[in-house]
Amino acid sequence: MGGLDGAEVERVLDAAGVRNPHVREYVAHWAGITEPDRVEVVDAADDARLVAEALDAGELLPAGEGRYYSRSYRKDTARSEERTVVATGDPADRGVYNNWHDAEEMTAAQVERMRGQSRGKTMYVVPYLMAPPGSPLEAWAAGVELTDNRPVVLHMIRMARVGVAHLEQLADPTTFVRAVHVTGDLENLGQGTDDDQRWFVTVADRRTILHFGSSYGGNALLGKIAHGLRQACYDGRASGRFLAEQFMLLGITDKQTGRTYHVCGGFPSASGKTNLAMTLAPDALGERYHVSFYGDDIAWLWVDDDGRVRGMNPEFGVFGVAKDTNELTNPGALRSIGPGSGAIFTNVAYHPQTQEVWWEGRTPEPPADVTGWEDWTGTPIADREEGDTSPWAHPNSRFTTTLANVPNIADDHDDPAGVPIDAIIFGGRTRDREPLVRAVDDLAEGVYDGLTLGAEATFAADGLDGQLRYDPMSMRPFLAYGEGDYAAHWLRIIGAATHQPVFAHVNWFQRDLTEGGGGRFLWPGYRENLRALLWLAAYQRGEASGRRTPVGVVPTADELDLTGLDLPQADLDRLLGIDVERWRQEMGFRQEHLEQFDRLPQPIWEAHRRVAAALEAER
Ligand code: GDP
Ligand code: PGA
Ligand code: MN
Ligand code: MN
Repeated sequence: MGGLDGAEVERVLDAAGVRNPHVREYVAHWAGITEPDRVEVVDAADDARLVAEALDAGELLPAGEGRYYSRSYRKDTARSEERTVVATGDPADRGVYNNWHDAEEMTAAQVERMRGQSRGKTMYVVPYLMAPPGSPLEAWAAGVELTDNRPVVLHMIRMARVGVAHLEQLADPTTFVRAVHVTGDLENLGQGTDDDQRWFVTVADRRTILHFGSSYGGNALLGKIAHGLRQACYDGRASGRFLAEQFMLLGITDKQTGRTYHVCGGFPSASGKTNLAMTLAPDALGERYHVSFYGDDIAWLWVDDDGRVRGMNPEFGVFGVAKDTNELTNPGALRSIGPGSGAIFTNVAYHPQTQEVWWEGRTPEPPADVTGWEDWTGTPIADREEGDTSPWAHPNSRFTTTLANVPNIADDHDDPAGVPIDAIIFGGRTRDREPLVRAVDDLAEGVYDGLTLGAEATFAADGLDGQLRYDPMSMRPFLAYGEGDYAAHWLRIIGAATHQPVFAHVNWFQRDLTEGGGGRFLWPGYRENLRALLWLAAYQRGEASGRRTPVGVVPTADELDLTGLDLPQADLDRLLGIDVERWRQEMGFRQEHLEQFDRLPQPIWEAHRRVAAALEAER
């Protein structure tokens, strides 16, 4: 066991108050495999000391009062979908998108890959909880991440509830996720080549996560994507109790009535979830409405004893895209990363002398005096070659901050009972076809709509930026089992509710594709997106009736509150229009997409045929 003997591991666990024998056994087992020099148990209260150590070691750099800067290895800046695997013992769990492998084989290979890889390093033991304490889903929320990477620990402290106490209070001391992260020798892993050494494996039926070969958040913060999404997706079905989705969750309070309308929904990575949940109401509507933040990336949904769909955010922080975050687009985000916030910036541009950070869209133009500025790779801007127009910040550069810093955080965001869900929306970057918003009343049609979510992939996944693809419910990279079974689980869970939420599809990303239009966005987006959600709420209350189309109900122009917005009529018509011919063509693609799925429930096929028939009838 490297420089560390078993007695020393026992001593560290004793000193940290780790009594759960299953946690102790797990830590000792993995210390024997990865062979760290030291073991340390982490509590959120250790943050200041760990930050000081990371600054000393140069892993973090100061980025203004109480904020930090980190750079990742230049080939390690996004999730890697093709290296990400779900493994189980049951081949029936193979889906089109989950990259299924056999659990036995994958585990054995991963153990060999990780063997001895933490030599010379500290293994941090990070106990965490992905739920508000007391949540009815708490039994699926506990985990222990083992990582040999200190910046990963600092991110985990911001993104999850971290502390030994969470693992000592388990009703069943065996039920925690075993989440092992080993960084590996990043400069020699052949990222993106035929000899790629990285694997990110969720052994879902053993509740074990084995990630090797990255320190990037989406690959290394195992509480978040691997447990909160992939593992929980599996657990939700295995238990028959809940859904775990890549969803934001927000509340819109009408100050006149005091009522709050809760909306959750999925957009693919880097397609606007964080911005929507953090968005403060636009000035013209702020007098009357307040938007509150519950979550920006993950929601777990279940049905309570009264038959209401309820939702909660299992996370404790925000891992947001930096690009284009500024005073106009997202003032709330800027406040959440202000002085003293403890925020960590990753892969943005940096000025070591002034400790400033910058990213594309932070200000309309980059700093005029480039002296001292370094791009995300550490290259001085002043040394760049003439004509080098590559961005200063990596397109997937991020900020990490705890929920407590989010100015519009909901008062009841950590209520263990969650909040009642009124609406479930899907959306993404779709340059044409999809209107600003269309409401779907029927459950099967709503689930069908989620399954056929088609959008442009983004820089949040390596090498896929701009590719048009289907991304079922925005869960394509996180699905733990087959799509047909996933649809059936959705119908079962939401179908059990006595109050059905309304579904809707939204699109903030329609472009002007006419000649001379330059591809500009037709809709101003960001804070103005609230207007589409207000229409949906009015529609659900029966206060707006909209226009019925083959693909759902769209607002009429006068039903949309456009106060204070200067939107040309021609743009508005396009935003609310349905191009029937374009949709008819889409139905053929959808048919092929759905035919790939095993055991797709009949109600989904019926929904597909209803939409297709309605489009035919429009001719
Ligand atoms: P998430 O990854 O789904 O949480 O997406 P984010 O909210 O972080 O946004 C990802 C990127 O899309 C950022 O660069 C945002 O500035 C941009 N974005 C978000 N919302 C909008 C919008 O309504 N309109 C436009 N044009 N861009 C947006
Ligand atoms: P995002 O979260 O959805 O906010 O981009 C990270 C990810 O999904 O990789
Ligand atoms: Mn995400
Ligand atoms: Mn986000």
